[in-house]
Amino acid sequence: MKDIARQSMSIKVESMDLLNNQIKMEAHASATYLAMASWCEQNGFFTSAKFFRKQSEEEREHMMKIFDFLIDVGGSPYSPEVTNINHDYSSIIEVFEATLEHETAVTKSIHNIVLNARKVDDITTERFLDWFVMEQVEEENTIRDILDMIAITGTDGVGLQVIDDHVGNWIN
Ligand code: FEO
Repeated sequence: MKDIARQSMSIKVESMDLLNNQIKMEAHASATYLAMASWCEQNGFFTSAKFFRKQSEEEREHMMKIFDFLIDVGGSPYSPEVTNINHDYSSIIEVFEATLEHETAVTKSIHNIVLNARKVDDITTERFLDWFVMEQVEEENTIRDILDMIAITGTDGVGLQVIDDHVGNWIN
């Protein structure tokens, strides 16, 4: 992007660079959840597979929200390269634990962009990210609730299939 175009944007250059990085993170989350959907299908967790397929779609929507915002403010969004997608999990618990880890990393990243926007008086970016801040609260809460349900149900005997059935409660 030419320097003159970067200067005429209605958000700060630092914000655009951080938001482009966030696009990449959302794309990575989308691809990771699709890999989890595949793992769940192969291991007989069909409801969880549906859950992760839906999560994958939502992450792509998040990515496109940022992409469109950068277009609207006269910026230059990048189509991200997505690599390093893990397809290997040892259990359904590990899948959900990895999901929580992912989501907390996304939350941290969003908060960092908000704090940076505040520091450089970029009100537009700060306001835009309000939705993402609250979305992360919801997403983390969902995964914590599922992990609590797993802990209560237990993984012995039919426990694993009960867990998979219950995940259906979190599919909107
Ligand atoms: Fe878009 Fe779940 O982070």
